[in-house]
Parts: sequence; C-alpha cells; structure tokens
Amino acid sequence: MRVPFLDLQAQNRSIWPELQSALEPVMAESQFILGPAVERFESHFASYIGVRHCVGLNNGTSALHMALLACGVGPGDEVITTPATWISTSWAISYVGAKPVFVDIDPHTYNLDPDQVEQALTPRTRALLPVHLYGQSADLARLSALADRHGLALIEDAAQAHGARFDGRRVGSFGRAGCFSFYPGKNLGAFGEGGCVVTNDDGVAAHIRRLRDHAQQGRHHHVEIGFNTRMEGIQGAVLDAKLPHLDDWNAARARHARRYSKRLAGVPGLTLPACPHAEGHAWHLFVVLVHGLDREELRLALADRGVMAGVHYPTPVPFQPAYAHLDYHPGDFPVSEELMSKCLSLPLYPEMTEAQVDYVADTLGELLSRHEALSSLTAGVMS
Ligand SMILES: Cc1ncc(COP(=O)(O)O)c(C=O)c1O
Repeated sequence: MRVPFLDLQAQNRSIWPELQSALEPVMAESQFILGPAVERFESHFASYIGVRHCVGLNNGTSALHMALLACGVGPGDEVITTPATWISTSWAISYVGAKPVFVDIDPHTYNLDPDQVEQALTPRTRALLPVHLYGQSADLARLSALADRHGLALIEDAAQAHGARFDGRRVGSFGRAGCFSFYPGKNLGAFGEGGCVVTNDDGVAAHIRRLRDHAQQGRHHHVEIGFNTRMEGIQGAVLDAKLPHLDDWNAARARHARRYSKRLAGVPGLTLPACPHAEGHAWHLFVVLVHGLDREELRLALADRGVMAGVHYPTPVPFQPAYAHLDYHPGDFPVSEELMSKCLSLPLYPEMTEAQVDYVADTLGELLSRHEALSSLTAGVMS
C-alpha cells in the first residue's frame, strides 16, 4: 500500500463541480486581483472565525508581517515567540525591525509556555506572538491575560489551526490580530499562495487593507511605505468554495488522529501527541516523538514500505544561521530541542481511508518493535 503525506488531488476531486463553478466567474470577469470573490471569502471567513474583519493577503508570512506593522511593532521593540515553528513567524518580526525573543514551549502542547513568557518580559516587549502548532491552540487564556496586564499586542500565528478552538472559541479571534496561511497543504488551502489577517480592531483592518495595496489612500496617493500583498481572485474563489467543508474535513482529521492514537498506544520508543485541548484541535499534523533510533533511518524505512512521513521541523528557529547574531546556544530551549530532534509527522489528511491509517500505524509499530527486540538482544549479548 502507498500512503502519501497528503493528497490534494483527492480533496479537489471530492468537490470538483463546486470548484469549477467558483472559478468560472473569476475567469469570465477577469477579476484576478482582489475583487468580488475575495470580498465574499473575507466576509465568510470573518463570520466563521467570529470576528468583524478578514483581510485577504498573498500568503501567511505577509499576514504576520502586516499584522505586526498594523499593531505598531517596529525597530527597538521585542516580540516574544516560540523556537518551535516554521521560520515565517520570526521572519515577520525581523521584517519590521524588531527583535525576536525566543522562549521555550510547554512539553504537552508544544506551544509557548506562559510562565517563561512572563520571565522574558522587558520594558521593550511590545507583542506576544504564539503559534498554535500542529493545529492545537496555545494557552490563550493565560497569554491574553499577560498581554492585557502588560499592555502588549497579542498576535496569533494560526497558520496551522484553521477552525481550531480554545474554550469553545475559534483561534485567531483572541488576539488583536490572527494570522492564517492558505498554503495548499494547510487545513484550508488555496490553489497557490494565500493568507489573511482576522481582527475585531477596525483600525488594524483598515491599515492592513491600505498596506496590502501599496498604501494607497485613493488612487495614486501613497500615504506611507506600502506593499503588494493582495489576495488573488482565484484564491478567494477556491477558498470560498472550500470553506463550507472545513469543519467536516477537520472532523475527519480528528477521527484519523484518534485511530492513530489507539493503534499506536504502547508501541515502544514512541511518544504520542498529548492533547490537553483535544476537543478544539484542528489536527493539521499528527506528530510523534521517536526515541532510541535514528529518525532519518526510520523515515526512510517507512518510505521503503510506501509510508511518506515528514519532519516539522528539524531545527529550532533560534539555531538557524540567519539568527546566529542573537547568540542562542544548544541547551537554551530543552523542550523545543527534544521535540525537534525527535519529531516525525505521520500522513494525515481528511480523505485518508481507515485502511491507510491502520497500515501506517502497523508499519511504524512493526519497525519500532523490531528495533526494540534487536536492541535488547544486543544488550543481552554485550552483558
Ligand atoms: C506556523 C506558520 N506560520 C507561518 C506560515 C507562513 O505561511 P505562508 O507559507 O503562507 O507564507 C506557515 C506556513 O507554512 C506556518 O506553518
């Protein structure tokens, strides 16, 4: 059996006529940049998240960048964020001239640890930028309280958490701004690049609408340094056609995740995802930790058997060469370092069959059990 890491074609096939009828008007009217399809999606996604505004952008990295600018973060400011994320989170902080201050994560959720955030606050801290990693919410109750108490902007990186909830409310709606990516492999994915910022703050929304369109106020009148970060019409149409399916797709992901957890329980050398916020988890990724054997060897052995696993991500962001000037060192982030040296993402997408989930779990279980048996044999021979 072959199990790809994800299967976008299967998803497109499942709603082909809806996609076609969403795309036709964009082509007929040639409204390729912003336009009615983007406006419809913005309005529907804002209602879905439960906020007043959604501003459609060209990708999630721009969403973070525009959100930080609109929240007034700039040179000399510090923004507290997580080492365990895709690099875009800290790129955006660097783009506005601020300094990313990394603090370690909670060992259960793999998200920013609020206790450590509190210890890292300085008079220069201007914003908190948590990530809802793998689709599970960060502790938004404590992070919101911290932001309020210290007058900081809370900006959520919800790029992996479309539809996830915390205390019953959709993530993205807690902070001053919530940032989403619609990269094709996300829970809600475009036909190319896409992103957005959601917010209840009228000023932030208006500012980002202006920034994304060359900071024009009226035609050919540019009131500050602007950007071209507009969403394309085709992406608005595709996302609007897919949005009504998002909750069902997330429910299928959650079913597969439960099946993995059951089937893999007790397998030696494996840590399964702990899910304190399981009921609101969007299950963008199903990530296990692999102990006592080389992750790359295991990944290749799985690939040999038709199972395509991934790594999200191998290196804590502060240890990337681009951030060498910040002078962080191994041992500074023990929980993130453990996660990133051992994490393995199993295939997970709504259209997977139960037989595929079982095949992945059984193949992984077999490889790990065989390794365990071999290790105890060698230990017996050596003693
Ligand atoms: C946590 C996180 N933040 C930001 C981004 C950036 O989104 P994009 O790739 O759309 O620029 C991603 C996407 O990979 C992400 O996973």
